[in-house]
Amino acid sequence: MKFGFFDDANKEYVITTPKTPLPWINYLGTNDFFSLISNTMGGYSFYKDAKLLRLTRYRYNGVPADVNGKYFYIKDGDTVWNPGWQPTKTALDSYECRHGIGYSKWNSSKNDVAASVLAFVPTDDTCEINQIKLTNNSSSTKNLKLFSYVEWCLWNADDDMKNFQRNFSTGEVEVIDSTIYHKTEYRERRNHYAVYSVNSKIDGFDTSRDAFLGAYHDNHDPEVVFEKGECTGSIAHGWSPVAVHQINITLAPGESKSFVFVLGYCENPEDQKWESKGVVNKAPAKAMLAKYQTDADVDKAFAKLKEYWDNLLSIYTVKSANDKVNRMVNIWNQYQCMVTFNMSRSASYYESGIGRGMGFRDSNQDLLGFVHLIPERARERIIDIASTQFQNGSAYHQYQPLTKRGNSDIGSGFNDDPLWLIAGTSAYVRETGDTSILKEMVPYDNDMSVATTLMEHLKRSFDFTVNNKGPHGLPLIGRADWNDCLNLNCFSEHPGESFQCFGPSEGPVAESVFIAGMFVKYGEEYAQLAELLGDTAEAERARKEVQIMYDTVLKDGWDGDWFVRAYDAYSHKIGSKECEEGKIFIESNGFCSLAGIGVKEGLAKKALDSVKEHLDCEYGVMILQPAYTVYHLELGEITSYPPGYKENAGIFCHNNPWVSIAETVIGRGDRAFEIYKKTCPAYTEEISEIHKTEPYVYCQMVAGNDAYIPGEGKNSWLTGTAAWTFCNISQYILGVYPTHKGLQVDPCTPHGFGDFTITRKFRGATYNIEVKNPNDVEKGVKSMTVNGQNVDGCIIPYVEGQKEYNVVVTMG
Ligand code: GLC
Ligand code: GLC
Repeated sequence: MKFGFFDDANKEYVITTPKTPLPWINYLGTNDFFSLISNTMGGYSFYKDAKLLRLTRYRYNGVPADVNGKYFYIKDGDTVWNPGWQPTKTALDSYECRHGIGYSKWNSSKNDVAASVLAFVPTDDTCEINQIKLTNNSSSTKNLKLFSYVEWCLWNADDDMKNFQRNFSTGEVEVIDSTIYHKTEYRERRNHYAVYSVNSKIDGFDTSRDAFLGAYHDNHDPEVVFEKGECTGSIAHGWSPVAVHQINITLAPGESKSFVFVLGYCENPEDQKWESKGVVNKAPAKAMLAKYQTDADVDKAFAKLKEYWDNLLSIYTVKSANDKVNRMVNIWNQYQCMVTFNMSRSASYYESGIGRGMGFRDSNQDLLGFVHLIPERARERIIDIASTQFQNGSAYHQYQPLTKRGNSDIGSGFNDDPLWLIAGTSAYVRETGDTSILKEMVPYDNDMSVATTLMEHLKRSFDFTVNNKGPHGLPLIGRADWNDCLNLNCFSEHPGESFQCFGPSEGPVAESVFIAGMFVKYGEEYAQLAELLGDTAEAERARKEVQIMYDTVLKDGWDGDWFVRAYDAYSHKIGSKECEEGKIFIESNGFCSLAGIGVKEGLAKKALDSVKEHLDCEYGVMILQPAYTVYHLELGEITSYPPGYKENAGIFCHNNPWVSIAETVIGRGDRAFEIYKKTCPAYTEEISEIHKTEPYVYCQMVAGNDAYIPGEGKNSWLTGTAAWTFCNISQYILGVYPTHKGLQVDPCTPHGFGDFTITRKFRGATYNIEVKNPNDVEKGVKSMTVNGQNVDGCIIPYVEGQKEYNVVVTMG
């Protein structure tokens, strides 16, 4: 069952009922100012950091779900309604929400009044625009009242929902004409404030939540709107400041009026904070608001946003006979890659924006799907991430986006983390050819006095694995590897202890076969970077270490039919036939195979066949089987989840593409594509009533076979699935992969996929690539021509300065 449809021409998903199974959200903002916005206009806004600089308040665990947002109430006689249906939930005569690329739109109507709302964040301002247009479609004059509503957050979102003894006394606002200034804590150590303004005269305002809602009311029935009909002009002193505008509107039959609301973030230099004693310097707000005074201003800013995205989405486009693939590749998958790049795992409807910042491993993986879009931002991100690394090569697991400093509350000692830095950097250098980044001086733990080149950081990443091996010569796992919940050194016995921080961060015995797979893959990429810098001795040393690891995996990481997952602190196997539960895991099988381990020995094929046999289900490939049914002290959080959920036998979408990529490595296009389809939003759209999360983006986890409702999705948007799936489909299945020497075209497609074309912008040139598959093979390039010339192999030689490459690849 569907709750809407894709409008590919407009790059929109059109939601046709407000009653979606879960709130279906979108992200507004490209750089520093962001909003989360749901199909019923719930959500919140922040500047740079969802924890530290939150503009508007969200109410977690609210009932009903998703009840705080940027709302408009329309009062038409006795009827009060919202264009997004919530929070009054007045039945609408028509409703439509269009989530687009960086914007959302609503078209709704009630009693012959039509409301359309356009919400977006301009590309170069720190504000969100909400343009609302009301039209009278009746044959008589309408006298309407429009009320806006946002509830301010007292900046630090964590403190905001805990420290009431202070917070109820600090709130402060100013109101000048149609602009409401939120200036809580500005009197002391903050030099920023927020504004909510409208481009018209207002007929009233409120800034005290209690005055607007009334005691024992909530925002579904504000007293001012439903009973009094007029704002009270309240000025908040403490308690909960809000921003409400009242505009009285008369509309003749057929007449429309529109209003531009702007929610903005402003900063002043320390010595220019005040206009006069206690009065905020409003110059930055006035300058910002002056830019959005008319509908034409809004049109201009909106056109700029569209152009920004059209440009980005022209970098990689495919035309194939498969509409669903075209839609995901050309629009939604890349859009989600941008969002995960911006948010990491910080702010979604499942990530509170308070708990987690930028993940070291997460952000490095996010880069893989983003680097082609805006390489300069990827470059900056790599330096930021590397700056939080420790001198021994290990790293803080996360850092705070505002301060760019490692967050010690979340811990460190996840032994896969260092290697992801090689993955991210290698992707950047392959994309851009810019080796200068490797020579940048980068601090450790933000301490510039111990800075080294980025290449030296990568060396320490590499050597961290070399220097931290266990009894079998496999990498020690530390607190965990990619699987945050495989906590083999933790041994937590008391509720409430964080599995990721409790216990020793190191253990001399527990080992990870998954990290071994990573080491083989990224060790080779490290060697290639060393070669690029002319350091052949280092490349040779690295390759020797990689070979040692390869052999070790085949010796002690192979279980007969698949790769072992790990060894626990007693050196017992995990993910082996010997185990009662958790006999086979996806991570080591997917990653070791995609890294090429056991390919020539025929073992990768065997491992992938075992994955299909034991882990496959209708909705994807499960992370492990059989599910753990009891808590194991020696395994940690993985066994804390009920069977079928999350890391305990859920379908963790993130590692499905690893298996799919591994299938392309051994040339099985049918199976690679079958796996791709299972978690692909354009395919799961059909089962939205089971899947529940947004049908235009990936979610982190889908419940596995052991769960109560298999196929139910959770934790949408912020997941490494976005980047990995984009790599899978664009670089492995469609097969356009950036190498240091130039673009490689080596597709691996399912039977019947047919011919296709790809346009790829790469290092300043445009590549028009035509792939022909006359014999309907799954893999193999028979011939390639570049600008009419035959070329051996499948790498298009990169020629400095050449602007256009017309490429014909014939599979066979
Ligand atoms: C979450 C984390 C990611 C981790 C995964 C598996 O998605 O963000 O870092 O790899 O869970 O535990
Ligand atoms: C929990 C989740 C895991 C996530 C981790 C982040 O362990 O199960 O998916 O990566 O928290 O700290």
